Amino acid sequence: MNLFVFLLYISIVMSTVNFLKAKKRVTYYGSLIKDIYEEYRTGGIIIAMPDNTRTRFARLTRAYEISRSLSRDEIPSIAVKFETFKERLASYTDRIFRPLVVIGFYKMVEVYTFQQIAKDLIMGYPVWLIIFAENADADVCEYCRNPHGNLFNLKFDSEVLVLCCDSGIINEWWSTTVNRTERKEIGRWIGEDPGRYWFNHGSIYGRRKSLEGRELRVTAAKGSAYIWKENGKYTGFFGEILNELSTTMNFTISEVTPTDGFGSLNPETSEWSGVIGRIHRNEADIGVSPMAMTHSRLNAVDFTIPMFSGKSRLYVRKLDGARVQWQAYFKAFAVDVWMVVIGLILIMPLFLTLIRYRRGNHLLSQVMEHYSNVWGIYCQQGLSRFPDEISLRIVYLSIFISAVVSASVYSASLVSFLTVFSSYSPFNTMEEFASDGTYGLVVLKNSAQYDMYKNSKDAFRKRMMSLMAPEESLPSSLAEGFRRVCQERVAFETNEAIRKTMAHSIFCEITAIDTKTIETFGMITPRRSEYLEFINYRIRQFELNGVFRRLKNKYFTKPRENKIDYPKVHVEGVKPILLTLASGFLITLIIFIIELLFSWIQNKLQRREKQRVIQQQTKYFRFSHRAKSEIYFIL
Ligand SMILES: *[C@@H]1O[C@H](CO)[C@@H](O)[C@H](O)[C@H]1NC(C)=O
Ligand SMILES: *[C@@H]1O[C@H](CO)[C@@H](O)[C@H](O)[C@H]1NC(C)=O
Repeated sequence: MNLFVFLLYISIVMSTVNFLKAKKRVTYYGSLIKDIYEEYRTGGIIIAMPDNTRTRFARLTRAYEISRSLSRDEIPSIAVKFETFKERLASYTDRIFRPLVVIGFYKMVEVYTFQQIAKDLIMGYPVWLIIFAENADADVCEYCRNPHGNLFNLKFDSEVLVLCCDSGIINEWWSTTVNRTERKEIGRWIGEDPGRYWFNHGSIYGRRKSLEGRELRVTAAKGSAYIWKENGKYTGFFGEILNELSTTMNFTISEVTPTDGFGSLNPETSEWSGVIGRIHRNEADIGVSPMAMTHSRLNAVDFTIPMFSGKSRLYVRKLDGARVQWQAYFKAFAVDVWMVVIGLILIMPLFLTLIRYRRGNHLLSQVMEHYSNVWGIYCQQGLSRFPDEISLRIVYLSIFISAVVSASVYSASLVSFLTVFSSYSPFNTMEEFASDGTYGLVVLKNSAQYDMYKNSKDAFRKRMMSLMAPEESLPSSLAEGFRRVCQERVAFETNEAIRKTMAHSIFCEITAIDTKTIETFGMITPRRSEYLEFINYRIRQFELNGVFRRLKNKYFTKPRENKIDYPKVHVEGVKPILLTLASGFLITLIIFIIELLFSWIQNKLQRREKQRVIQQQTKYFRFSHRAKSEIYFIL
């Protein structure tokens, strides 16, 4: 009897001790989870439990105790079994804040169960806290201290915190090579009751620098002006970025696979072609080409942070250098100004004749004289004789001033019209291009522009699509695109940032029309790539430490060295000038003939007049002679 009471007593004491211990443990885990929740700024906690019947009750109690203590601090948490864990986690993905997943292990079996689940989880997405319980089996604790292989399918970007049995140290686990689990201390229990965890506040990018020479599969668009191989080294803007990344992240580049085109979506099969397709099918780890970010592409692949951006433009060949349109000569003045100028030239001579009309002289010759004077003034000539009359002087002076002013305004206006108003470009807007319809349109094969035109329901884009060359004949490289601009009657739509790399291989003069779309370019990785954030971190560093600027200077704003094949000036181009010259000659000739005719008539008239005078004089003389002789005779 006494023994029984004693045993009961002992058992009550033991369970109380156990209860108190458990209680203390719950408080301890509760505060640890809270510390991590705050440190990693996660958005809620999922506590996952294996479905082990034997320990289920104890676990549930513990989980709910922890949950309750968290909810007192207003931290949302939920406890789920392994069965439903995957779905629960899926409902958390793509949120702004990552969840914190807490898992406790007692037995190795549970570890293996979780291994099966982890196979198809995105281990890089949530923050994990894996607790190997203080009263777990010895082999579990041993695994925790010496993790072999990579049971949890860890990635390079996994953030997994591990607490080993009785240890006060928190380790971080991740994997660099597919096969191994890496460990590093990241937090430590400091102080006694109520202690807190202290975390190593360095950035994850500083802690995980090296990929230990892991091979990355790289792909790029074929015939790219951004990456090519020269003496066994990758060159070009993206080629050098790739080299820099490989050195700073310590990975090796497996052969760069060239892929045809950037990638467009086939709406029927929902399959992507080109570089996007390769990355989407996970056949490569990184696509190093300038990929324009579009909405549909973002659903298929992940983009790095933008590396450059620019306006999309329509490039066409400049028109003949000397081709001046006919109306250009007349467009310099508005119609009413022309009317005033011509009116002045017509009316002024009449007005002058009126002032200076002298009886006796021929009216026509006076009018003609004034016409030639006024015309001469408008052609910047002086007068042969400046008139003496004040009234005439005033009128001539006014004509002089008006002629000088209008001639200088005309030449200034014509020059600005010919140069600024760029009549070298056959179009000035996209609408003009579309309504002209005599030019074809090409874009890069499989490019974002092609997708935009092909899949658009917009009426204007559809009209542009009708001008587009057939898909098979689209250029697959920039060089080919610009060659076609130079040789054919086509416009090539591409991005100005991309064109900058082509300055040395465009062999004719081109001009551009703004399409009012801005594109942003980056590299791509498969969705949820374990390397993406690390690549982004490096790109940001390249921006800060000047690598980017150096490469942009080297590849984007290269001075023009190529010999431009200047367009030949055809007769067509100089026709207006020749015609003006010829008509000038003709008018001069006509006026000259008229003048000759006029002077001939005048001479004739004068001669006749003279003869008449002579005859009269002779008559008079004869008469006087006879009279004289008669007088003499009389005398
Ligand atoms: C993983 O390790 C095994 C043996 O330990 C080896 O055969 C295999 O090639 C490794 N895999 C990788 C991707 O390193
Ligand atoms: C890069 O990886 C190799 C292993 O392939 C390693 O030996 C080397 O120390 C690493 N370099 C750096 C800077 O981490």
